[in-house]
Amino acid sequence: MLDLNKHNIPGPPFTMFFGTMKEVLLGRTSVEKYLRNIYDAYERPPFVGIFHIREQILIIKDPEHIKDVFIKDSALFPNRGLNSSLQEEPLKQFLFHANVPVAHIIRSKVSSAFTPSKLKELCHMMLESLERLDNYLEELLSKNNNIINCGNIAARLTADMTGINLMSINMRTLTRENYEENDFLKYTDNACGTYWGTLIKTVMIDICPRLYKWIDYLLSSNSKVTPPFLNFISDIIKYRKKHAIVKADILGLLMELKKNPGKLSEFIGSDVMDEFLRTQMLGFLYAGYETTAATICNTLYELASHPNIQDKLRKKILDTYAKNNGQLQYDDINAISYLNADFKGKHNNI
Ligand code: HEM
Repeated sequence: MLDLNKHNIPGPPFTMFFGTMKEVLLGRTSVEKYLRNIYDAYERPPFVGIFHIREQILIIKDPEHIKDVFIKDSALFPNRGLNSSLQEEPLKQFLFHANVPVAHIIRSKVSSAFTPSKLKELCHMMLESLERLDNYLEELLSKNNNIINCGNIAARLTADMTGINLMSINMRTLTRENYEENDFLKYTDNACGTYWGTLIKTVMIDICPRLYKWIDYLLSSNSKVTPPFLNFISDIIKYRKKHAIVKADILGLLMELKKNPGKLSEFIGSDVMDEFLRTQMLGFLYAGYETTAATICNTLYELASHPNIQDKLRKKILDTYAKNNGQLQYDDINAISYLNADFKGKHNNI
């Protein structure tokens, strides 16, 4: 059991009822800003201790230790510390929330979609998405006096890639006839915004899990968002079943899991298996979409703020293009060491 005091782990002061996260719990700051401040305030120590209400949390700052937890010793850290009452509800058990045995079954099923060789296979689809982006940008720039909204572009590109990679579906976020109106972008704008009900629920789930169940029912933050997405996923599943389409994408792997649930049926009743599958798919969509779009958008911002790095990176990419006769494959992209350093934020080392 972690004991921050016993191990003399430094950390911000404790406040009754809130622990050290009062500003976050009251919605006055985001978790991201809170953690950023901790990173800045405790520059030297490799660990910092915080309290989420009464729960002790160890923040690991040292990249080598972080790697150990995420990769080498990941089996020792199967749980994300989310409240157990979520884990009792099968329809909330996306991989992040799932209890350990369920998460283990899902992970072993879908991990084949995340191997380096699979990513290599996906590379040509990503390059096709980038071609669509190219066309979109050309049209947009000519229409808007060279002014573009990078957040929107990152969202469109990510949705295009996510749809194809997860479900082999074109989300049409980069398709000319859907430039103006796009259902996916409309729904995700709603889904990813901050919602006061989510704040209340975040606090309630820890303070009073029983009450949370009612609050959760009353304050369903994604009520406008979730049903259309779930219906959309159902339609694809129905279509695949009707036409006996089998694919090795995430949806295909999950459908296979439903067909041969093995031990999963001990944890998830067969009557809710369809819902469970759609929940997983929805979770994958959110997990892949918002994170990647935000990363692309922040990268564009950093590059715009550091034009010297941007110019050098552009030159390295164009040189690689020229060297490969205008064709970039997975290995060529990986070989652009300046690009890798850019992604890892290591420009000072170059
Ligand atoms: C830049 C983009 C991304 C970032 C920053 C990001 C970040 C993260 C983080 C921090 C975790 C938690 C890791 C842990 O607790 O073990 C995670 C887990 C996960 N992410 Fe991402 N992610 C990104 C892109 C994606 C994409 C494209 C997908 C694909 C579909 C995805 C699917 C998942 C899934 C399924 C998990 C749960 C893994 C598990 O429980 O085994 N993420 N991600």
